[in-house]
Amino acid sequence: MALTIGVDIGGTKVAAGVVDDDGEIVEHMLRPTPAREPDQVAATIAGVVKELAHGREIEAVGLGAAGFVDETRSLVRFAPNLAWREEPLREKVASLVGLPVVVENDANAMAWGEVRYGAGRGESHVVCITLGTGIGGGIVLDGNLYRGRWGMGAELGHMQVVPEGRPCGCDQRGCWEQYASGRALVRDAREIATAHPERAALMLELAGGTVDDIEGEEVTEAARKGDPAALEAFGLLADWLGQGMADMAAVLDPGCFIIGGGVSRAADLFIERARETFVRTLTGGGHRPVADIRLAELGASAGLVGAADLARLR
Ligand code: BGC
Ligand code: NA
Ligand code: ZN
Repeated sequence: MALTIGVDIGGTKVAAGVVDDDGEIVEHMLRPTPAREPDQVAATIAGVVKELAHGREIEAVGLGAAGFVDETRSLVRFAPNLAWREEPLREKVASLVGLPVVVENDANAMAWGEVRYGAGRGESHVVCITLGTGIGGGIVLDGNLYRGRWGMGAELGHMQVVPEGRPCGCDQRGCWEQYASGRALVRDAREIATAHPERAALMLELAGGTVDDIEGEEVTEAARKGDPAALEAFGLLADWLGQGMADMAAVLDPGCFIIGGGVSRAADLFIERARETFVRTLTGGGHRPVADIRLAELGASAGLVGAADLARLR
C-alpha cells in the first residue's frame, strides 16, 4: 500500500497525516503553527513530516498552504492572512525531509479531498467554499482541479463584492471574505452590539460585557439561544454566502457547492437561509437545475487528505 503524507498549514495549527491510497488516515498529528516566521513554519512542517515518516516508506508529501501558490506548485507567492511572500516552501521542506514535495493552495487541497473522498464523490463540477479566518475557494471542473494560468485561480474570497468596501489583507477593498467569513461574522456581531446593545444582551453577557471580547463562539452560542443581534450577524453571512454562490453559478454552473471551514460547524444557523438567497438571486432561476449545497464531510481533515492525494498524483 502506497503511503503519502498530507499537511494542512493554517494560521493557528498544522494538521498532518499519513494517508493511504483509499484516502484513509493511518496516523494523524496536530501542532500549533509557530510564530508566523516562514523559516519556523517550514521547520515545524518538516518536524511533523519526519515524525510521521519514521519507520514507514513514504512516496511524497503534499502541503496545503493558505495563500497564492505558483504554477510550479513550489512558491507561496503571497498570503493575505499569513507572512509568506515569495516563499520557496517546496524547496525548504523538501531539503529538510528528503522527499518529493508538492505545494497546493489549502482550499484547493480541501476541495480535492472532498471530491475524491467526501461530499463531492462522483461529482464532476464542484465549487468548494471554506469559511474560516478568510474564505477559501476550490474549483473542480470536468473532474480536474482548476488552477488557472498561474496557479492562482479560485481565490473566491477576493472577489470584490462591495466597491470601496472593507479593507482586506490582500490590500484591496470590499473582498467577499470581509463579509462572509468567520472574521466577518465577528465583525458584524460587534458592530450590531455596539449600535444596539439592547439587542445583543445575551452575546454581551457571554463576552463578559465587552464588545471586543465577542468571538465566533459567543456569536454562535448566543444565536443558538435566540439573541437577536447574533441571529442578525448570521443572517448577513447567509445572504452574502448565498449571493456569492449565485455569482459563481453564473460563471461556472457547478452541480454542487461544498461548504467547509470552521464556520461550517455552525451551518445549522445559516445554511437554509443561504440556500434561499442562492435560489432567489440565481440568474435564470426557474429555467435551470439548482445546484446542490452540501456540507463538507471530511471536516478538519479534508485539506490534509486532499494534499496527500495530490502528492500521490503529482
Ligand atoms: C487566501 C486563500 C486561502 C483562504 C483560506 C484567503 O485569504 O487568499 O489563498 O485559500 O484564505 O485559507
Ligand atoms: Na483556492
Ligand atoms: Zn482580498
